[in-house]
Amino acid sequence: MTAIRYLPAVEIEGHESSRRGTPDHPMRIATRRAAGLEPGGWTGELRDEAREFFDNLAGEWHTRASPQRTAVVVDALERGLAAVPAPRGLAVEVGSGIGTYSSLLAGRFDSVIAVDLSLPMLQRAPARPAHRVLADAAKLPLRDASASAAVLINAFLFPAEVDRVLARDGTLIWVNSSGEYTPIHLSPDDLLAGLPGTWTGVASRAGDGLWCVLRRR
Ligand SMILES: C[S@@+](CC[C@H](N)C(=O)[O-])C[C@H]1O[C@@H](n2cnc3c(N)ncnc32)[C@H](O)[C@@H]1O
Repeated sequence: MTAIRYLPAVEIEGHESSRRGTPDHPMRIATRRAAGLEPGGWTGELRDEAREFFDNLAGEWHTRASPQRTAVVVDALERGLAAVPAPRGLAVEVGSGIGTYSSLLAGRFDSVIAVDLSLPMLQRAPARPAHRVLADAAKLPLRDASASAAVLINAFLFPAEVDRVLARDGTLIWVNSSGEYTPIHLSPDDLLAGLPGTWTGVASRAGDGLWCVLRRR
């Protein structure tokens, strides 16, 4: 039995991949190391490199938002959670950046904790409705099994931490706004390879983006 069911792709008019992410992009390499898919792991040096990289982009991050990119996230929440329902409860948004998608999540979950490593990113995010927390998602400031959902939109996957904080019936929502060309990209198969245990779920493409919604089997 295949663990992931692929739903039909949907078009998003005018959506184009940023084409920024290639396999040798430093953040792609960091993505694979964080997920345990390449040697080296998540070190203090790599964390500092990622923080500096995103601190420097915080001032222009708002230019990367668009209705089309938002539509990719909306599709993941609508079709993904229709197929793999998540209890309302608490969502942890990992790598929330300037909070572009936090209010969408707040509409779907009872509360949202938005975690980011970069202070300049968090300072540009609205104070509400998500609670903003400065932290390294390699060590989330959450209790075991406390989250209904972990939402990673163009954000690093730390498999053991996501596994630890998610409730038994919790859901992992993964979105890459530019599909394979997202710097922080993993394929659905990569997600399954990185995560401990056995997971099942759905995946699809929306415009040039891709998403995957998983829960433990
Ligand atoms: C590509 S941006 C995505 C931001 C937002 N999710 C979006 O799609 O617009 C990645 C975000 O993850 C944050 N980040 C990088 N490493 C992190 C870590 N170890 N823990 C938490 N956040 C991290 C960065 O500061 C940045 O805001």
